[in-house]
Amino acid sequence: MSFDKLVTKVALDLFARRVQGHTGEIAYQNGGGKLFEQFTHANRHYYPYHGEINLLSINRDAIAGNLQDVEHAIVVGPGPASSFSRKEYPILEKLPNLKAVSLIDLSADFNTQARGVLKQSRILCRRVKSVDDYEMDFRDAGTVVPAKGKAAVFLTGGLVTNLHNAPLNGFPDQDMQSMLSACRDLAGDDGYVILGYDTNQWHDSLDRAYDQSLAPFMKNIMKIIADHTTGIQGFDPHPNNFRYEMQWHKKASQVAHNLVFTKSQRFTITEPNGYVRNFAFDIGDELLMMSSIKPLPQKMTQLAGMCGLTTANGYFDQHGLVEHIFRSAPRHPVMGPPSTSTALIKLP
Ligand SMILES: C[S@@+](CC[C@H](N)C(=O)[O-])C[C@H]1O[C@@H](n2cnc3c(N)ncnc32)[C@H](O)[C@@H]1O
Repeated sequence: MSFDKLVTKVALDLFARRVQGHTGEIAYQNGGGKLFEQFTHANRHYYPYHGEINLLSINRDAIAGNLQDVEHAIVVGPGPASSFSRKEYPILEKLPNLKAVSLIDLSADFNTQARGVLKQSRILCRRVKSVDDYEMDFRDAGTVVPAKGKAAVFLTGGLVTNLHNAPLNGFPDQDMQSMLSACRDLAGDDGYVILGYDTNQWHDSLDRAYDQSLAPFMKNIMKIIADHTTGIQGFDPHPNNFRYEMQWHKKASQVAHNLVFTKSQRFTITEPNGYVRNFAFDIGDELLMMSSIKPLPQKMTQLAGMCGLTTANGYFDQHGLVEHIFRSAPRHPVMGPPSTSTALIKLP
């Protein structure tokens, strides 16, 4: 799908309130990645970034110790070189049997950056015989990335918790299972999955972590929409027309990243079939742009157990960040709906 087509779909779903929290698909592109990087450097209270680098480096040998028989590392969402070089890469150097690395990111630029980091390592250049990369959604990669021996699938930076349309009144069990199943597909029947996510449930520290220094990244999504939505007319993406607001929904273990309209707007989007959609937003109206789910580890263990993954180990820090290591386990047979014949038997 072309980028313009993707942005147009994301924008129509957003403004029509058909889908929420899904703009992560476009947010890191067209300058978004740079703004996200600037945010991680600007806000020292944004512990998920610096905290995870510390957590991984302090526990690097221990984490690598769990993965000594790994031959194929699959890195999902490596992000910018500044992340990959300090998160997954130091662990890959500690895997004596590593022979292949696969990179999967929606952003081709991030894949290229990660390849560049791998090329610098004399250890890995000697050991790793194949590096391939995929500019795609990892949830569709299970049937695309070839198996190359015992695999370890890495998802750092809370990627596994960037769920779309997550409810605000309860935990998104089914969507999280889809994410975990996609990881299991990549790991195969005899692999590992390493998930870096945040379990923090405290409003105060979340409020400091997602402060106004995140606003430029969030507001830039409206610029991407204005620049790449086919048929959009009259929409003013100027950053002063929006306010960034984080909301913590404890029941849903969700930080909702909202943009609130500070100027009322009327605009149209003409669809390829000529149909003109009219939109009107008033001051104070809000749109949920992205969701950061903060699952408790027991919840992830429970859901992973339903997807053929069992907890092998976990490493925590004082903020509630965790590197959760799973091993592949037999998948439960898919239970179909009861066949009509059985449904008809009535108990006396
Ligand atoms: C939250 S960032 C994490 C980046 C890096 N791992 C880190 O810890 O800083 C998410 C990364 O995953 C990529 N990404 C987001 N959704 C994805 C998807 N469904 N499939 C593949 N890559 C995705 C983004 O392009 C971005 O590089």
